[in-house]
Amino acid sequence: MPQRPHDLLQRKQAGLPISVLTAWDALSAAIVAEAGADAVLVGDSLAMVVLGHATTLPVTLEEMLHHCRAVGRGLAMAAGSHPPLLIADLPFLSYQCGANDAVAAAGRVLKETPAAAVKLEGAEPETLAVIDRMVRSGIPVMGHLGLTPQSVHRLGYRRQAQDPVAQERLQRQARELESAGCFALVLEHVPASVATTIASLLTIPVIGIGAGEGCDGQVRVTADLLGLTPRQPPFSPPLIDGRGLAIEALRGWIGSQRAPTTRGTPAAPHC
Ligand code: KIV
Repeated sequence: MPQRPHDLLQRKQAGLPISVLTAWDALSAAIVAEAGADAVLVGDSLAMVVLGHATTLPVTLEEMLHHCRAVGRGLAMAAGSHPPLLIADLPFLSYQCGANDAVAAAGRVLKETPAAAVKLEGAEPETLAVIDRMVRSGIPVMGHLGLTPQSVHRLGYRRQAQDPVAQERLQRQARELESAGCFALVLEHVPASVATTIASLLTIPVIGIGAGEGCDGQVRVTADLLGLTPRQPPFSPPLIDGRGLAIEALRGWIGSQRAPTTRGTPAAPHC
């Protein structure tokens, strides 16, 4: 039986760390599942990481559904008795144009893919209302505050909650997301002290990225950790130089193909 949102809460209550990794296709999903991730996020970062867009904004709901189904197939192929919870990002403008459209978009994710939860960004009053509707419709929702890439044109990619006023606001919004029914919260690129305080104030798990070690868990973009992306954000350094290793290995193979060989040379035709 795959993990459920409630399993993440139980891990927090038991003081166990939570590891969340992104996946974008069957191959990456099987790898992160076999590595033991508690949850797999089909993040809209895939717009940049695997689709080559400059921001996360262009990715569509249809594309997210397509990637989510592929990730689901990868998780089904992976070895292990307790598959990770599958969460899918709702893309830009799939939940900002009214509660009915938002519930319909999130509902499609749960109906048409194996995902058991959605993630969305922000905690504006309209977003809180949408989350409330989704939760009451039976759709588990993960919140996301701090650096919210869908607001890049307003906030940039810089560290958020840097002054006391912004920190107070972040704390209030985190509480509001919990009250609206979110089962977990991602905090991205905010000061560690603020993230630690929020994690201790909330009952739901707080999953950090660039938010220090005091959160209940951590989330990373798998391609960043593996060093597959050309550049990684400063708060997500690579574990290995995957890109360099892959290029070197493939270059070696290509070189070996071009080496002159007499093996298999056809005999000269008789005159
Ligand atoms: O899209 C994504 O991969 C994310 C993570 C960075 C949390 O939202």
